[in-house]
Amino acid sequence: MYKHLQTSPEAILAIENFNLPSSFDFGKVICPVMIVCDFKNGEWGALNMIPYQTISLDPTCKVFHYGQEIFEGMKAYGVEDKGPFLFRPEENWSRFNLSAERMGMAEIPKDIFIEAVSGMADYNRDFIPNNIGESLYLRPFMIATDNHLGIRPSITFKFMVLASPSAEYITSDYVKVHIQREYARACPGGTGRAKTGGNYAGSLKASMEANKLGFHQTLWLDALHKESIEELSGMNFFAVIDGVVHTPKLTETILDGITRRCLIKIAQNLGYEIKESHMKISELLKQIEDKSCTECFMCGTASIIVPIAELCETDGTSYSLTYSKGQVAKQLRETLLGIQEGRLEDTEAWVTTLL
Ligand SMILES: Cc1ncc(COP(=O)(O)O)c(C=O)c1O
Repeated sequence: MYKHLQTSPEAILAIENFNLPSSFDFGKVICPVMIVCDFKNGEWGALNMIPYQTISLDPTCKVFHYGQEIFEGMKAYGVEDKGPFLFRPEENWSRFNLSAERMGMAEIPKDIFIEAVSGMADYNRDFIPNNIGESLYLRPFMIATDNHLGIRPSITFKFMVLASPSAEYITSDYVKVHIQREYARACPGGTGRAKTGGNYAGSLKASMEANKLGFHQTLWLDALHKESIEELSGMNFFAVIDGVVHTPKLTETILDGITRRCLIKIAQNLGYEIKESHMKISELLKQIEDKSCTECFMCGTASIIVPIAELCETDGTSYSLTYSKGQVAKQLRETLLGIQEGRLEDTEAWVTTLL
């Protein structure tokens, strides 16, 4: 059934001996196996599933010094004894290679990537939690493994996939978002469109400061003028203004979210007008004040869709959306999750069933 994936007897034993804990949050419990595939001499080697274990790397390994690293986030669903399903895995594969290209790393063939993520969902199917909103979170990633302290691109890489039975990423339904007017997440010509660790490392100080101020997430604005809304540190942004669903138009500094793309399609199918444009924060705040903006929400694979209750300035000024019932976000979330979990008809052929 698998052309590339090789599974060791130790991996099978590790799966047999694993028990899914009764409680887990997001990303803490890790499945007992992992996938490893090395790139050297210009080609990808064997795709192996082995017991979960630490990996040994030379301290000069390039990833430690120059951050040549990329990753993806995706989920396998198995709610109410349906599935297991993967959701648009080819989209994660193509974004992975887009990130690889931007970071000067080896691209990975589609069949290797898809076998790796399918194999992890397949062999770990008993560890897919089965309540609505829960899933097996899959984390494909790749690191640069040349042992050399010079600043130059690696020519060897390690691709791996981990799996984590997970609850929803954000469980609170009251999210306060900090409008970040000092730092920038991504700049023109930079790596914002790639899913590379450095983008996230650079966002952490802002998230620490937001937390200290009592806020939960950071809203990033464009680096040059600090005026156009871009996205959150791990999610895309939407607003409902006069009944129209708005989202920032993609630029090279915004991650092209797969959830974002699905929501645009779902909203259109539900009859909403969609507008992708440069959204000015100053205008949005006025629209929240005059109540023409009735909802703001954020979306991503891990978090699904989370309504924003308040947009906040550093000095504590708050623009509240708590009067809104978040009906559009709720409808989009129920539709998307219903499709992902096989509870609603998959009219767009987004879902792959693992046999
Ligand atoms: C910076 C950033 N924006 C947006 C998203 C949402 O992307 P997706 O919907 O593909 O998970 C993510 C999550 O991967 C992200 O890290």
